[in-house]
Amino acid sequence: MAFVAKPDRIDTFSTIHDWESADYEPTLPVSEKSNPLTRHIDRAPASSIMKMLQACDAQMFQEKSQTQYQRLLSEEMVKTLMEVAERVRLILKDPQDSLVVLSGCGTSGRLAFFMASGFNRELQRLNYAPVCSYVIAGGDRALFSSQEAPEDDPTLGALCLKKVSEGKKRVLFVGVSCGLSAPFVAGQLDFCLRHPDVYTPVLVGFNPAHQARKEPIPGCTLTFHSVVTRMEELAKTQKAFLINPALGPEAISGSSRMKGGSATKILLEVVFSASFSRTPVTFNGILQHMRSYEKALDFTYSHSEEIAALMEAAGRSLQCGRQVCYLGWGSLGLLGLIDASECKPTFGADHEDIRGFVSGGYKELGNNEGDLTLMGPEFSISHDDFLDGVLPRLTDADTVLLLYSHSDDVDEVAKLARRVREKTSNIHAAYHQTDGDAAAKQMASRSIQTFATLGSSPYLQPPLQGTFASKIRQREFSTKLLLNAVSTGAHIFKGKVFKNYMIDLQVTNSKLYRRAARLLQKLSGHSESECEEALLKAIYQVDKLSEDIATCSLDAAKAKKVVPLALVCLLTGCSMKEVESRLEQQPIVREAMETCLKSS
Ligand code: F6P
Repeated sequence: MAFVAKPDRIDTFSTIHDWESADYEPTLPVSEKSNPLTRHIDRAPASSIMKMLQACDAQMFQEKSQTQYQRLLSEEMVKTLMEVAERVRLILKDPQDSLVVLSGCGTSGRLAFFMASGFNRELQRLNYAPVCSYVIAGGDRALFSSQEAPEDDPTLGALCLKKVSEGKKRVLFVGVSCGLSAPFVAGQLDFCLRHPDVYTPVLVGFNPAHQARKEPIPGCTLTFHSVVTRMEELAKTQKAFLINPALGPEAISGSSRMKGGSATKILLEVVFSASFSRTPVTFNGILQHMRSYEKALDFTYSHSEEIAALMEAAGRSLQCGRQVCYLGWGSLGLLGLIDASECKPTFGADHEDIRGFVSGGYKELGNNEGDLTLMGPEFSISHDDFLDGVLPRLTDADTVLLLYSHSDDVDEVAKLARRVREKTSNIHAAYHQTDGDAAAKQMASRSIQTFATLGSSPYLQPPLQGTFASKIRQREFSTKLLLNAVSTGAHIFKGKVFKNYMIDLQVTNSKLYRRAARLLQKLSGHSESECEEALLKAIYQVDKLSEDIATCSLDAAKAKKVVPLALVCLLTGCSMKEVESRLEQQPIVREAMETCLKSS
């Protein structure tokens, strides 16, 4: 069977704004387009990957050009952020009867948890009542493990919101869906729109409203797009708010954990810190605060060389079937957990491939459902769990990355590092220090001595500005960028990316199913229906589709290497068994696919 190569539009686009052109991948929303800057990322060395990621991330802060797109720093966007900050202030004035709920799916839900906890800590520090809560699709188990199916359920979304806000008279609901696509969030927004006396909905996402998902949601009359249209109408009178700047396509197409997650963090932190401050919310204040993240971004990428070395170390570990462990403290540890958990749906990774551990475990997190350790090995997240379950098996082939700052217990860090070093010399640190503080400098030099012989250790010292809280947030932002780069690069080296597409994604919900089907069409040149058929066969590992398969839950089918299986079946006409054994002979997915594409 012949491989019909589609004309590659990307070839004709080369500058940084090209994705904005109306005829660039016109059927796709911005969040699903492929980024012209990264089309060769799968073959690039670590240093070039860093350059591509930097250019891609920099797109977040580009000013509005002559196109349809609102940008992060657009005037309208800043004004909306000011209005939302005022709404948060109203909640703070009446904490007894009011609530802020942050919610989302996958990384968006994890960040909702991350920020709700951080905002509550900050509120308590400022003598306010903690008024923030979170809802994540799939419950707390989704904080650290891959649970994509609940994302498809709008009724569940509405129910969870109702439950968490029971009895409150005023609720500001912030729903995050980077792609303006998750039915779970659509259900929550719809619930708010039906109860306007109590709920004010805020939607955060990164596509223009007309690109919101129009696909019907089974068993329900809503679409994400229909909800957004209703919100747009109400936004005119400030009864609803839309925060949806375009950031440019992700470095790995559709991987919204990257820019989508970063911008979610920036936007919500800017809004909430403006509302917590005792000074008036101003346009310039908001704008400057956003710009401080741009500085943190530049600063982080000024350490590209060290980060590239970390990426290579992590890549070597994954390539030989070994492990990468993030050992973190405080919120930096939680960012490690978040980064690790997204590798499963994005790269078809095993939960053991990249794992996060945080000092203090669940006690440190304070999540709704408490200690989840008994749910299985994926939920063992403390340093003690690492010492008991992972350390004894560590070798030089594994990579360990410590994530901490001068405000953590540096002696404890050094103690743990010593224990790790007895098992592996492949230990690294991303350490944040603050200048000007003598005690901190002393501690920093102590830890630099401790880690003097480590491979690569970016001693991050962002040009921190603003309040105590905003310094912590910039540090977190910098860590997020670093972790995203390391885990993405490591999986590129493992062959989990083809051009700039995730080719081994898990197909565990309707969005991922559509993404996979689209990729198959692009790579095979076959029709939509042929690709969907091949995809379903690969998901359920059958050569013939039966009637009842169409009604099965996608979550029930956690088959591995689904897209490669479907593609090779499409191109060769071989049976599932034959293709499976072909793929087993060539475990590097990208190479298996390339061989197949060349020979077809
Ligand atoms: O379906 C899983 C997933 O794609 C995650 O990878 C992602 O973090 C999550 O969905 C959220 O997507 P969105 O923010 O666009 O709703």
